[in-house]
Amino acid sequence: MALEARGVTIRFGGVVAVNGLDLDVRQGEIVALIGPNGAGKTTFINCVSGAYVPQSGRVTWKGGDILGLTPNALGQRGVSRTFQNVASLHDLTVLDIVRLGRSLGRGRTERRSLGLFTTRDPLAEELTETLLAPLGLADARHRPIQMLSYGHRKAVDLARAIAAEPELLLLDEPVAGLSSREAHELADVIRGVRERHGCTILMVEHKMDVVNRTCDRIVVMAAGSRIFDGSSDEVQVDPEVRRVYLGEP
Ligand SMILES: Nc1ncnc2c1ncn2[C@@H]1O[C@H](COP(=O)(O)OP(=O)(O)O)[C@@H](O)[C@H]1O
Ligand SMILES: [Mg+2]
Repeated sequence: MALEARGVTIRFGGVVAVNGLDLDVRQGEIVALIGPNGAGKTTFINCVSGAYVPQSGRVTWKGGDILGLTPNALGQRGVSRTFQNVASLHDLTVLDIVRLGRSLGRGRTERRSLGLFTTRDPLAEELTETLLAPLGLADARHRPIQMLSYGHRKAVDLARAIAAEPELLLLDEPVAGLSSREAHELADVIRGVRERHGCTILMVEHKMDVVNRTCDRIVVMAAGSRIFDGSSDEVQVDPEVRRVYLGEP
């Protein structure tokens, strides 16, 4: 198993946000993590990405323990994430941010020439062509991020995470707040990342059309625990899932 979480438990005071969670993602798989608000999805992503250290449990990536690692150490192991709420209070440009993302990764791609003695900037050209253009951000590349719409900032955050050329990509509601056209475009980019890089992806997402378009398997969390693990056909008829979402007895 590429990503393996076992018995992950994290409490905040009296609240058990994640309660003995087991979750597996195979190499190259895209798994959706869904569940009602407050289910513990973001908290779990925060554990895997090193922001929180759970009180108990283990998380391994390709056999190595990753709990509590810094973003840099995770970057070196090929792990990258996006954020549910994107920051906007700085004046870095789109290209600056994507370059930062690239510098945090391991740099698996052969670098092109450094462009000495020319005014060309090969890295900027490569990032624009391979990342910003497919996300509709090529024309915005020199604009400060705080000038962009929410949807474009979400796309920049995704571009930053992908720029690291991760082997494991953790996405927290990547299309929240986007129009359905933008959401479908972003979903296609996410699938494209897996196809190009063979990347493994764990994605928190509410929009079921995006989940169905993007993911191979669905895990449902409720009140900190896993209540379902299976296909999108099965999830719709699962009695426990229907009870949690629809209040069926
Ligand atoms: N830093 C924190 N301090 C206190 N409580 C938190 C913190 N982060 C999350 N929680 C609580 O943990 C539970 C799960 O939250 P969260 O992981 O954000 O859920 P989800 O992402 O599934 O909506 C909620 O009850 C939330 O209030
Ligand atoms: Mg959340």
